[in-house]
Amino acid sequence: MRDRRKPPAASKFRLARRARGGTLFAVPRVKIGVVGAGQVGATTAQRLAERELGDVVLADILEGVPQGKALDLAESAPVQRYDVRLSGTNDYRPFEGASVVILTAGLPRKPGMSRDDLLKKNAEIVTGVVEKIHPLAPDAFWIVVSNPLDVMTFLVRHRTRLPRSRVVGMAGVLDSARFRSFLAQAAGVSVRDVQAMVLGGHGDDMVPLVRYATIAGIPVSEWLAADKIEQMVARTRGGGAEIVSLLKTGSAFYAPSAAAVEMAEAVVRDQKRVLPCCAFLEGEYGLRDVCVGVPVVLGAKGMERVVDLNLSDAERKALHASASHVREGISALALA
Ligand code: NAI
Ligand code: 2OP
Repeated sequence: MRDRRKPPAASKFRLARRARGGTLFAVPRVKIGVVGAGQVGATTAQRLAERELGDVVLADILEGVPQGKALDLAESAPVQRYDVRLSGTNDYRPFEGASVVILTAGLPRKPGMSRDDLLKKNAEIVTGVVEKIHPLAPDAFWIVVSNPLDVMTFLVRHRTRLPRSRVVGMAGVLDSARFRSFLAQAAGVSVRDVQAMVLGGHGDDMVPLVRYATIAGIPVSEWLAADKIEQMVARTRGGGAEIVSLLKTGSAFYAPSAAAVEMAEAVVRDQKRVLPCCAFLEGEYGLRDVCVGVPVVLGAKGMERVVDLNLSDAERKALHASASHVREGISALALA
């Protein structure tokens, strides 16, 4: 006789099915929230969808804008052949359970404005956003984009009290991409073969690491004269301002969104990418209690570690000078 305490295989299957609310398989869906449906936010949503990194919720204070852009992106799906859910919202309830939040809300630079000019206004916006989203998505990994970047990253970590592994800022990937593309143009080679990293704060005192820049594994100094490399360093430092002066009504968004999505992908796909990100430092590079751009490993656990590179005295000095500038911005916030 069949042991009545043990259900037969078919009933077991039905029980499992009932337990999961009628679905056959528990399919985990990654939800990515993008705050700010402006130039950077909307382009980020597009790139996330095109890479099928997860379902995307786009939020903004402007009524209709996130809904309209999400709908437009959803209607692109059959042509572009991506299959993710896209929605737009003016409140944050749909962010509940989000795995990744990409924060692009805030004012962009206009000609003549520095990133620091945005500090007070964007701090208010960022604080308001964090207070609403963090309770709904307490485990989310945050990628901060709003400027001034390093100060806003510090602010998000301060307000959420999350471990440092869950809050990073996007700037180093963008600044490094600019540096790499300028070096490729100067050397007349493919960008694919150029590796380079920019550390420090996302400001005019950022630190492009020339010593570690290579083309096909060969030091860049073998390809370009020192004065040419210096020109590329200067152009990288002014890369954001160069775009602002051309656009006149806003700042860059194609490369910034590409950079933010590269970081999100590293986490969602557990890629263990080594990318320069703005991170809260706890003694690495001789710096503590400040957020600044350094190489980190990004994977499923977020920022899994900070890579503490061997810097020359000059590079270290430049990194510390850049970090001091970030500290001034943090002090200006007078955080409790
Ligand atoms: P944008 O003006 O096109 O978009 C910003 C959006 O934020 C607007 O749609 C606005 O309505 C929205 N917004 C304002 N307050 C909000 C709130 N409380 N909640 C939700 N949404 C709100 O500006 P863009 O070009 O998209 O730039 C966004 C931010 O990213 C700026 O602060 C800009 O400086 C920064 N940025 C940073 C980069 C980096 O490398 N870290 C690169 C490019 C931009
Ligand atoms: C950029 O570097 C404005 O931070 C922005 O393009």
